[in-house]
Amino acid sequence: MTPRKKENRGDLDSHGTTLQRKREPAASWNLSIPCKSHHYFLHHTNLVVYSLTRTIACQVTLRQVNRKYIVFRFSGQVINHSSVEVEALTKLLFIGDVVGDPGLDYLETHLPRLVHETGASFVIANGENSAVTGPAPAGGCGMSVRAVERMLASGVQLITGGNHSWDGSEAEKTLAIEQVLRPLNHSPRGPGRGAATLAVNGTTLGVVNLASRTAIPHVDAPLDVLERQLESWQGRVDHVLVDFHGESVSEKQIFAWAVAGRVSAVLGTHTHAATLDARILPGGTAFVSDVGMTGPSGGMQGYQPDTFIEAIRLRRPARGPTQVACGPVELGAVLVELGTGGATGIQRL
Ligand SMILES: [Fe+2]
Ligand SMILES: [Fe+2]
Repeated sequence: MTPRKKENRGDLDSHGTTLQRKREPAASWNLSIPCKSHHYFLHHTNLVVYSLTRTIACQVTLRQVNRKYIVFRFSGQVINHSSVEVEALTKLLFIGDVVGDPGLDYLETHLPRLVHETGASFVIANGENSAVTGPAPAGGCGMSVRAVERMLASGVQLITGGNHSWDGSEAEKTLAIEQVLRPLNHSPRGPGRGAATLAVNGTTLGVVNLASRTAIPHVDAPLDVLERQLESWQGRVDHVLVDFHGESVSEKQIFAWAVAGRVSAVLGTHTHAATLDARILPGGTAFVSDVGMTGPSGGMQGYQPDTFIEAIRLRRPARGPTQVACGPVELGAVLVELGTGGATGIQRL
């Protein structure tokens, strides 16, 4: 997915669309739309060329109508407006549980390129494990202010959390940061917030962080809490993304089906194990049971396994030390395409 260099030669219509004749194949044109965050595709036609590079190999002239680009001229002939349409797709990049310095290093090195290549408008990461915050795993796998700063500087716009959102001495400070969320269905009396909106190029995304009771036993029922949040956002957001932090595949699937058609994405986090069930549910809801982790392989959920092995042998909680694993970093991330009627695609990166 190497992005083509934007070229400025060719005709420029009144809408700022650049039409440029290609050398080959003959009689085809490249179309470049000067918008960094949206990608375009043609549908209701066999001459579909959908490209992540924002280049459509045909001759078209576009007019923007209600945030959609309507093709009214195609290969030099006037066509029925409704037969070919170019819809602006918004891309959402979601990065699964970032683990420690290796995960942060990876984001610093690769995230700007990933955002550029995918054209993602929205970049969200679950950062609940982005720092080692204590000697034992219980309380030692949370977030620090520095880790949050590093994620934001890498291009992450909003950071979700989970059962480790309260780990470590800097938990309250991190939860006070505007771009940091923790499960909404945790106590509203505690620090932090569980939902936020992001607006990019006229598209508003609502993000809700929820936990199941397998991840945090004392949380409120996630479905009830989400439905209240959706009601409060009625008419104010274009899309809603749910980071559903939970242990089992079945609970995540049931939750996703329960809200299918009402939110644009339900993306599972917490297990750090990437699943292969990414799909679009009826009504345009992108779903995956678990996005996976972004952190070091070669261990257990991104950590050295020794302390956990000792814990099951001795039948007591893991006492530490909390040490991240040493293997090559793996990326757990999905790219969700958002159209006017919800999600149109989800793919692993
Ligand atoms: Fe978790
Ligand atoms: Fe995690």
